[in-house]
Amino acid sequence: MKHPVAAAALILAAFAASTAFAADPAAGKKVAQGTCAVCHGVDGIAKVPDAPHLAGENVGYLVRQLKAFKSGERKHEQMSIIAQSLDDTAMENVSAWYSQIKISVQVPE
Ligand code: HEC
Repeated sequence: MKHPVAAAALILAAFAASTAFAADPAAGKKVAQGTCAVCHGVDGIAKVPDAPHLAGENVGYLVRQLKAFKSGERKHEQMSIIAQSLDDTAMENVSAWYSQIKISVQVPE
């Protein structure tokens, strides 16, 4: 049996690879353009006041929220319906797209 820490590191590395590199952000951009842009923008900056910005958000967080909307664990009038149209691959791709947008912030004085 392998050293438990090394085994854990391998599992983490495999997890990171499956979430970070399997997704196709270019395909996700098409999803964003077709389905999300009117509210969240293709650039991930919200275009309507009640929608959150998605630019630069953690990819795992985005995927979890989309899955939660689809399963009903998280509810919202619009997002609950929109999430039904996304399979796991589309969720991962569109999340990869939004998470890879670089943002900068300027905090108030
Ligand atoms: C009609 C407008 C609209 C469209 C189109 C839309 N969204 Fe949303 N989205 C919202 C609103 C409003 C919320 C805030 C939900 C809430 O208050 O719980 C939201 C929330 C989210 C969240 C949760 C963000 C967070 O910070 O927790 C994610 C992720 C998300 N949307 C992704 C998407 C994706 C991906 C698409 C395209 C496939 C999309 N949305 C299309 C309006 C929209």
